[in-house]
Formats: sequence, C-alpha cells, structure tokens
Amino acid sequence: TAATSEKLVELAKRRGYFFQSSGAYGGVGGFYTFGPQGASLKGNVEDAWRDRFAVAEGNMEIDAPTIMPEPVFEASGHLDGFDDMLIECPECGASSRADHLVEDNTEYEDAESLPIPEVEEVIAEYELVCPECGAGLADVAVEAFNLMFATNIGPGDSDPGYLRPETAQGIFVEFPRLKEYARNQLPFGVTQIGRAYRNEISPRRSIIRTREFTQAELEYFVDPEEDEPDLESVADVEVTLYPASEQNSEDGSEIETTIGDAVSEGIIGDEWVAYFLGVAKPWYDSVGVDMDRFRFRQHLSGERAHYAADCWDAESEIDGNWIEMAGFAYRGDYDLSKHEEYSDDRFTIFKQYDEPKTVERATVDPDMSYLGPEFGGDAQAVVSELETLAARDRAAFEGDTIEIGLEGESHEIPVAKTGFAVEEQTEAGEHITPHVVEPSFGVDRLVYTVLHHGYREDEVSGEERTYLELEPEVAPTFVGVFPLQSDDELVAYADEIVADLRDAGLSVTYDDSGNIGRRYRRQDEVGTPFCVTVDYETVEETETTVTVRERDTTDQKRLSVDDLAETLSAIRAG
Ligand code: GAP
Repeated sequence: TAATSEKLVELAKRRGYFFQSSGAYGGVGGFYTFGPQGASLKGNVEDAWRDRFAVAEGNMEIDAPTIMPEPVFEASGHLDGFDDMLIECPECGASSRADHLVEDNTEYEDAESLPIPEVEEVIAEYELVCPECGAGLADVAVEAFNLMFATNIGPGDSDPGYLRPETAQGIFVEFPRLKEYARNQLPFGVTQIGRAYRNEISPRRSIIRTREFTQAELEYFVDPEEDEPDLESVADVEVTLYPASEQNSEDGSEIETTIGDAVSEGIIGDEWVAYFLGVAKPWYDSVGVDMDRFRFRQHLSGERAHYAADCWDAESEIDGNWIEMAGFAYRGDYDLSKHEEYSDDRFTIFKQYDEPKTVERATVDPDMSYLGPEFGGDAQAVVSELETLAARDRAAFEGDTIEIGLEGESHEIPVAKTGFAVEEQTEAGEHITPHVVEPSFGVDRLVYTVLHHGYREDEVSGEERTYLELEPEVAPTFVGVFPLQSDDELVAYADEIVADLRDAGLSVTYDDSGNIGRRYRRQDEVGTPFCVTVDYETVEETETTVTVRERDTTDQKRLSVDDLAETLSAIRAG
C-alpha cells in the first residue's frame, strides 16, 4: 500500500536511515543524507556487492574522480545526448518533466521515447496543465535539458568540467592503463562504487530519484568473437522476465523461466547479459529483496540509452509501481571507439593470432619534392590523407590521378607521385576494440527496496509493533546488548559482553534506557536481528547464560556467554 512508503520515510528519518539534506536551510530537492543506520546499511550493501561482483568474479576495482573534463563527455555523447524533456510553466515557473506529465495523465506509457514535437502535440491534445498551479501548458515549448552539473576546473571558465553522470566513464577513460593491469588479456572486468550526479528536473520519492546518488558498476570487456560466459553456472537460476515483445503485445505478460531456457529460446539475446542477470538474481535475494516483487524487464527500443544495443533492468515493486534498480546493458564498442576517436590514446587490445598470418598492406611513399612546393607547410597533412586513403580505399589509386581534400580545397595528385604500393606482410595479430557488457546498480534504490520489502507490522503481546526484517548480512546493527536494570553489577557484565562481541567484529549497540520492552521495540524498528539481555540469573549462575531474543519471531533462548560471540558470528557470516 502507498502508506508503506510514507511510514517508511517517517521511520527512516526518526531512526537515522535517511533524511533530506540541509534541513536547517529549508532542505534542497534531490539531496539526501544517510544517517548512522542508513550509512551502515548502505556500506554493508556495497560490501556485499563488492564481494560478489568484484572479488568472486575476479574483477578489478578502481576509484576515479567525480569531476571530469569536457572532452570526456564530448566523446561519450553525454554533452549532446544526455537530456530529459523540460517544460516550464509560464504562470508559476515550476519545472516538470514533459514525458512524466504525459505518462501520468494520458494512456502513453513510454513518452520518453517520443520525439519532442510529438510530446508537445500530446500535451496540447490532452490540454495538460501545470501540476503546481493548474495553468494550461498547451502552447508551451518542450526543451531538451542536459542533466549534467557543469563546473569550471581552476579559476576562469576556460576549462569546463562536469560532475560525472555515471561512474562508468571513469573506467572507460582509463582503459589504456587498465588493459595493462589485465596483462592485455580479454575478458576482464573493472568495477567502481561511487557517486554519480544528475540534475534531475523533478527529483521524486525520496532516495529513489535524487540529484546525487551512488552507483556500483561493472564494465566487463570481452572479445565478441571469442569470449563466452560460464552460462552453465547460472543456467538453473529461476527468473521472471518481461521482454519487449510481451510489453508490445496487447495481452503480453511476464514469463517465468530459467536463465538457461531464456537463452536457448532467444528471449535474452546476449549470453553475457544473461550471465549477469543470472548472477544478480540470487545476489538480490541474499541482501533482502523480496523475490515475489522482483523481475527483469527488457528496454523497449526507444527507451535505450544512446550507447546501448540491448538493455534489461532489474526492477522491484514498491507500492504497486515497478522501480528500476539496475540496468544490464550491452554497450558494444561504443565507448572505447569514441574515446579512441576523440583522445590521443589507444583504446584497443592487441590480439595475437594462433599462427602468424600473411596479409596485404597498401602503403604510400610520396615524392616530397613534388609535395613540398605544391602544398607548402602542409605536405605532412597530404601524406596522412594519402595513408588513410590507401588503408581504406585502394581503388582510389587505380586511375592516373587521385583527389584529396585539404582545408576545404580539393587537389589532384598524380598517382605516380604517391609511391602507392601493395606489399605482403606477416602479422602476429591485430588490434581489436573490445565490447562492453555493463551491469550498473543503483545503490540508493536498492537500499530503499531492502527497507521497503523488509518493513513489517505485527502484534506482540497485544501491542502493535513495527520491525524491519533485514538480512543479518546487511543489518546496520547486528546485536543490541541490554542490562535488565541499571544495576552496577549487571552494567559491568553487559559492558564485558559488548567488548567481546565487538572484538568478534560484530556491530553492537548498548542500551540501558527505558523498560526492556521499549528497548526491544527500538531495535526492532532499526532491524537489529538479535538482542542480548543480562539479568540477575546471569550474574548469579555459576555457568553464566544470557537471554537472546530473535527479532522476527521474538523468541527468547538462554545461551551460554562463552558461546555467544561464536554463535552470533556464525549467523552473521551466513
Ligand atoms: N552506466 C549506466 C547507467 O548509468 P542508468 O540506468 O542511467 O545506467 C544505473 O543508471 C542505475 O543508477 C539505475 O538503474 C538506478 O538504479 C540508478 N539511478 C539512475 N538515476 C538515478 C537517480 N536520479 N537517483 C537515484 N538512482 C539513480
């Protein structure tokens, strides 16, 4: 129910999960601070992601700057194409996303993929109004609004920079060095967990759509001709899929299948994407996403980012809506080719042939004494034009003269003066541009989902209780330790237990205020899986025991103090 999100956001603020930032100055839309519990939950989720997608897969991890110079985003296509549709109300000045306005108020479900003039037509046809003040928007122009935050690097404005809109570019631009660390062997993967920034027109639903958020991304570089994923290892993973074909058909529905079947039936076209969906599904389960409210949905063709050939999203259901938590995109050689084109470095890998090959190479050796006077200082430019032509279009050298363009002027050069020749060469290998498969996770949306899917209300001893059923692996606090009364002897004992448990690497909170029921409720609300109570039995016994209470069932057991750290550590480790 919608109420769950409202209650969750209230609980998140009250108990220190997350809250809007800069509240003392009125707050600012799209920026959130994770409080003590939230920072710890988020850190645990990131650690779990690192364990699975970096360590267990044998991938590298890097940590790149969040500000990058303009040429990076010229090459990546973000400067030109990373836009949302903006409509500004002529009456009150409120900004809205035109595609959201259309989706919220008409039968169009995927307005993002429509061209701007069509969106303007729909707004006029449906007489849509400003969501803030109700003024008509029929005659208002929709603009493309670039989502990147711009800044200047150093004083003055000669070196524009941008806050990265995805962590991925920090990996791509370092490819020339990263390939060396991978000993020039494909396939290899590079991960990064870090902040990304998008100047969203309308931030929405607390931490689900913000202007600063955390991504955990893996860029996996493959040789498309040779490398194959270990599909066997994920073939039996059961998945709910919502392919584009089903979304496009009138009575289309989700498909329950396995990764293996989905590949053999052609539902998931790319095997690498299928592999990572198969790795991701059990991982999402392990951190506490409800598998009955989880699916993979394929992007419709108009919905894909400028770099993606195919893309599937991992989605979670929140209050009846599907939220995108991650995208699994096949980016092909788009990014590396662009950086090769725009930069001075090499974004290819040398691929050795099994055996050396004899190949024909066209070369030029122009008569510089001819080029000298004719072309002045630009003789080198002519040579480079001729070399490019020889490599790409040998037929151009078949006539008596060859035509080349130089600074907008066309010149005719006798072929005899170009020294054109075709030679046989033995080559050990070739330079190839790797393709990229990209699982890209949003950490904030995952944290939100884990909290939402774990949110529970029940009744204990006739009293209403709220608790968070968080997985022990990610719960911010693992155990609460309470002395039953603030009696010196009990407090001293409890202090000792706290120290022991912390020594064992567990996150522990100590609480001696309020009655014991109240203390249990407090820990239930932050999702602490266990509470340990030191009572008079503990200090009076010869073989000392404490009460250990389990969060979800509220069952209580007496456990020996000597075994406590070991027993709880084993549960935490899963
Ligand atoms: N490198 C690929 C990429 O950035 P994306 O689908 O634009 O792909 C990946 O973003 C993930 O980042 C999304 O699935 C989502 O979880 C998260 N994300 C994107 N925009 C966000 C925002 N404004 N607020 C919170 N999370 C966001």
